Amino acid sequence: MEEKKVRLDKFLCERKAGTRSRVKKELKQGLVKVNGETVTEPDRKVDVEKDCVVYKGQTLRYRKYVYYMLNKPAGVVSATRDNTCPTVTDLLKDTGFTGLFPVGRLDKDTVGLLLMTNDGGLAHRLLSPGKHVDKVYEAELEDELSEEAVKKLESGVDIGEDRLTLPAKVELLGEKRIRLTITEGKFHQVKRMLRAVGNEVVSLRRSAMGGLVLDESLRPGEYRELSEEEIAVLQKGGMP
Ligand code: URA
Repeated sequence: MEEKKVRLDKFLCERKAGTRSRVKKELKQGLVKVNGETVTEPDRKVDVEKDCVVYKGQTLRYRKYVYYMLNKPAGVVSATRDNTCPTVTDLLKDTGFTGLFPVGRLDKDTVGLLLMTNDGGLAHRLLSPGKHVDKVYEAELEDELSEEAVKKLESGVDIGEDRLTLPAKVELLGEKRIRLTITEGKFHQVKRMLRAVGNEVVSLRRSAMGGLVLDESLRPGEYRELSEEEIAVLQKGGMP
């Protein structure tokens, strides 16, 4: 079996024990044990899958995959790198985990729920067109939505693809506000769907995806790790 050896201070930082300098200080203070023995050297190599690292009495487990929900703010692109704009990956750099990527894309001006992970398998399952994972959006519209437009969205509209969009669920939230649940993820899909019924999206926010609901306590730009329950919902294929 391949050994996963990393520097102890790096591992501690990644597991959010603090900044590198704080970790070094606490190592010197004897607050870290590896396999029962106090270790003070930051460059000690640990096998993160086998060695038992205890920090201030708490066992820190290595996790191969990590999952975060981000409340994406406007003006940030859903990419891992960009030449001109800040990216969603930049927003999560303090996690200490590298290799995080967004599961799917939200437009630069779209806000709300974005799942960030390093689990390619889960991302693939959630994004697979055949899985029809629910995505819930709240949209502010330019005009009031007519009954006819609602019916069209619910049965499928022509957005210039090979076939009509799959039936969507439409809930009227206000005069010009709707909640739209779709099971596809085509480029600019919501904006194109509304345009296809003669309307225009003024602002767009995603509130849920695959049974994962945006934590309303997260302000734009904030993120948190998913709970075990939330991960389990996504693993089940988005069925809550
Ligand atoms: N549909 C859009 O038009 N934009 C998004 O960002 C997401 C869905």
